Amino acid sequence: MSIDYKAEIERLKKELDVTLVAHYYQRDEVFEMADITGDSLELARRCKADDNPWVVFCGVGFMGQSVKVIAPEKRVLMPKIACCAMARMIDGSYFDDSVNYMVEHGIAKEDILPITYINSDATVKAKVGEMGGYVCTSSNAFKIIEKGLETGKKILFVPDRCLGQNFAIKMGLKSCVIGEGECDPKEADVICFNGFCSVHQLFTVDDIEFYRNKYPDIKIAVHPECDPKVVQAADFAGSTSQLIKYVNELDPEQKVAIGTEYNLVNRMRQKNTYVLSSTKPECPTMNETTLEDLYKTLKSIEEGNPINEIQVGEHTVKYANLALERMLAIK
Ligand code: 13P
Ligand code: SF4
Repeated sequence: MSIDYKAEIERLKKELDVTLVAHYYQRDEVFEMADITGDSLELARRCKADDNPWVVFCGVGFMGQSVKVIAPEKRVLMPKIACCAMARMIDGSYFDDSVNYMVEHGIAKEDILPITYINSDATVKAKVGEMGGYVCTSSNAFKIIEKGLETGKKILFVPDRCLGQNFAIKMGLKSCVIGEGECDPKEADVICFNGFCSVHQLFTVDDIEFYRNKYPDIKIAVHPECDPKVVQAADFAGSTSQLIKYVNELDPEQKVAIGTEYNLVNRMRQKNTYVLSSTKPECPTMNETTLEDLYKTLKSIEEGNPINEIQVGEHTVKYANLALERMLAIK
């Protein structure tokens, strides 16, 4: 007899002291089961404030890890420990290489303030925390960079070169990307690591021109992980929650093309809302989690043999927590 996953998940949620969390990019059927949904900043804040001892997190690895770091007493399970491709582009040694690059170009280590996008491994966050730096997300990067600049230090921004460059442009700062052309840390305010999101690189200025030619009054809204040329050509750039708010506040007759992950755009897709791409921009790792995975994870708690539990070493928790808490303290 086949299992009714939805009914079983509902039953297990009622019987266990568990909070089910899902990022906006999750498949619809998984997303619909969640108690808490949001962008990466909201998920971190709400998981920390939540009372349940168990968290089942449907998202990508760094998200579950971040919950474990800010609330180490919680048991955090992930139905799929799928790693964000951008987060995988940097590890502790690449981070050290970036610091060394700046030092070799005349910036003393104590004059570097590192900021890591939350899309990074806890070990990178720990290195950032040890150097007095911050975590940021796409919804608070402006405030965090502003805070970092108050120290008078050079900002090392990892791993997303697009997010770093986009916020530097917005703030009237000079940026450069290590490994891309001439990058002289003495000449720039924000020095970016050369990472990127392959999903958000799918959106192009040609896509924007296509829609503007077809519908001259259309609005274009994109995620700041898109290339700076795309962000410059758009009407609005914001985190997943900020994109939802922007679209919800538009007149229903206003056409809008959205440049972010397919599952979210498809869910927002009422009349007059378009995907800013001729491809289907799905995040492969976000899409890995299925209802069956979710059911098996909850069932493993019921059976007293939890699977896919997130573990983070004590040293990493201590310093990654510093960088995350510095971010959470900024309202
Ligand atoms: P948000 O912070 O907007 O939720 O983005 C997370 C992410 O991975 C975007 O690709
Ligand atoms: Fe990572 Fe890009 Fe997927 Fe976001 S959309 S989780 S940045 S690979």
